[in-house]
Amino acid sequence: MFSAPSLDFLLSPAGEAVLAWLRTQDLSDAQTLPLLAQLRRDLPPDLAGAALTLARLRQRASGKFSQAEAMFFTPDALEQASSEVVATWRARRFAEGGYARIADLGCGIGGDTLALAAIPGATVIGLDRDPLRLRLARANLHVYGRFAHFVCADLRDSLPLADVPAAFFDPARRDEGRRIFSVHDYVPPLDIIRGWPFAALAVKLSPGVSLDELRPYLATGAGLEFVSAGGELKEAILWSGELGFAGRRASRADTGESLPPTGAPPPPLSAPRAWLLEPDPAVIRAGLLGELAERLGVPLYRLDETIAYLTADVPVPSGWVRAWPVLDWLPFNVGRLRQALRTRGIRRATIKKRGSPLTPTEALRLLKLDGESDDTVIVLTQVEGQHSALICGRMLCMMKE
Ligand SMILES: C[S@@+](CC[C@H](N)C(=O)[O-])C[C@H]1O[C@@H](n2cnc3c(N)ncnc32)[C@H](O)[C@@H]1O
Repeated sequence: MFSAPSLDFLLSPAGEAVLAWLRTQDLSDAQTLPLLAQLRRDLPPDLAGAALTLARLRQRASGKFSQAEAMFFTPDALEQASSEVVATWRARRFAEGGYARIADLGCGIGGDTLALAAIPGATVIGLDRDPLRLRLARANLHVYGRFAHFVCADLRDSLPLADVPAAFFDPARRDEGRRIFSVHDYVPPLDIIRGWPFAALAVKLSPGVSLDELRPYLATGAGLEFVSAGGELKEAILWSGELGFAGRRASRADTGESLPPTGAPPPPLSAPRAWLLEPDPAVIRAGLLGELAERLGVPLYRLDETIAYLTADVPVPSGWVRAWPVLDWLPFNVGRLRQALRTRGIRRATIKKRGSPLTPTEALRLLKLDGESDDTVIVLTQVEGQHSALICGRMLCMMKE
């Protein structure tokens, strides 16, 4: 992406001065030509282009990194980088393990190296085969005032990491922009960990990873953690060796809360009650509805064996669930549902669905609604095996536990 000379420039004081000026400008696409024209007064075209690209990447990275405005990225490396909030959450587990040396394997531009290097007393070694990314990683650690050792090596060769007890491995799950689904196709493939000697190892996986593919690892003591942040499912982590555990865990990286497996039975089934609850996506993916009911400490019920919606008599003030008051519900029938909406004077609604064949757009059209509104939420789902519709009010404002 960046040539060596353009990277030399971007990392130099002269480059930083240009980037500081770009921070004060409107960087929208419409401004590309005027900005490049201005930059080219003092710079050759390749350096002008590189500076504008990096300035825009810094803006794009602000959702992932608190100091993005001073960091270094390429488009692909930013796309693949772990966000600070999730990397920090993961690093906490390594900190609890008290490891003196931790390797970050496939460290890219250092999203995880940064978080691991913040662990007091830990020496961190970032390894990647891409020398350009390693340069960016070193510069990014500098931005945060942190330090790590960096090694340029190929993970498929024998690892130059004698006496390193703990490692984090983040294989690429995209190849030339194409998303990779199977762990066998990750770059490098997950199987590579079988020959590694670490006492503790964590591997970042995509949140939609096939549990079947992970069976051989889970059968030998590895645990699987699903992590959300801001109500969105971000990733799965395979924890093995000393950091392994039995079963699956759900965590919210942004609040630092975790729901471990306890073997609690799933909540009983019930028709919709006064409140509809949607668990955090990490809880749903980890299949921990019983553990969630235990944690929230109020009777919860499932609407259906196969669907993760819950229902309760009382609203549950918790960051683990989103809640809507149920105004009415009925087995799905377009005519009856339209009638029920008309009776309530509802002309606009948001459609949510789980286990319904209709898309929200199709449902809005079939129900002849004028458009969307958060005041009413129509939930198309299964209730004890029957396609049903729940008419709900506005979502309860989420409250933290
Ligand atoms: C998903 S990215 C890592 C992102 C990183 N954790 C971050 O937060 O910035 C995967 C990295 O693995 C590196 N990689 C892929 N195959 C490798 C191999 N065989 N040996 C060493 N590094 C490799 C890629 O260069 C890439 O930087």
